[in-house]
Amino acid sequence: MIHLPAHLAIIMDGNGRWAQQRGKPRAHGHIKGTRVAKTIIQECARIGLQNLTLYAFSTENWLRPKSEVTILMRLLKKYLEKETQNLIQENIRFETIGDRSLLPLDILEALDASQAATQKCTGMKLIFALSYGSRQEITSVVQKMARLVESGTLKSKDISLETISAMLQTNKTPDPDLILRTSGEKRLSNFLLWQAAYSEFCFSTKLWPEFTKEDLTLVLQDFSSRDRRFGQLKTMESHEQSAH
Ligand code: IPE
Ligand code: IPE
Ligand code: MG
Repeated sequence: MIHLPAHLAIIMDGNGRWAQQRGKPRAHGHIKGTRVAKTIIQECARIGLQNLTLYAFSTENWLRPKSEVTILMRLLKKYLEKETQNLIQENIRFETIGDRSLLPLDILEALDASQAATQKCTGMKLIFALSYGSRQEITSVVQKMARLVESGTLKSKDISLETISAMLQTNKTPDPDLILRTSGEKRLSNFLLWQAAYSEFCFSTKLWPEFTKEDLTLVLQDFSSRDRRFGQLKTMESHEQSAH
């Protein structure tokens, strides 16, 4: 039996390089990458994963050429319009994290429509990290807390790991047990920095457009065999066993 992560987070990287290798424009890689995302989402739901976060667009990605940003936004909107019905059928609840203030109105409307339409779904939670930057997320929590302290609503001594976690946009999702990045890059690129404190990492050399269900299975098997200790001497499981 393989032990699934309660939360898998994926940095879907390598679309541009995949297209360039084929002498095609980067957009070609983003189109194929969207198809792969669809396959992986379906597969994760099928195997019973509870939470899947996909890093789709970072705050720093806004600095890419306007033409590429426009294509990425158009693909996202198309995905939402085409796939929301399938998400409902697959009982997948759709949510997002990220800085909404930077997103165009039509994208916000499409995101809200998909979120509302899938709100009652009870299966996998699918979270798109869009216009997301972890440092920005943390900064905004610090600002909010400072305002609460200024207004006398919060005492500085009451600031704790828990209150900080509770104010992050990820507050309704467990921390990612496993973070996967494709394309051979071994960095977080401003993704879930606080939440990744005890995450396991997997780095695939495959570019995202060539990542398959079979690759996912291998990654999950690898995760399943890991011994997570959380700074303690024994795994939580063996700790529980020895207590009996
Ligand atoms: C990931 O692929 C998609 C986004 C970041 C939006 P890239 O576009 O980063 O592709 P590479 O890394 O340049 O190959
Ligand atoms: C991270 O990939 C963001 C997404 C996959 C959406 P990037 O391609 O933007 O990251 P860097 O620039 O290689 O660090
Ligand atoms: Mg990249």
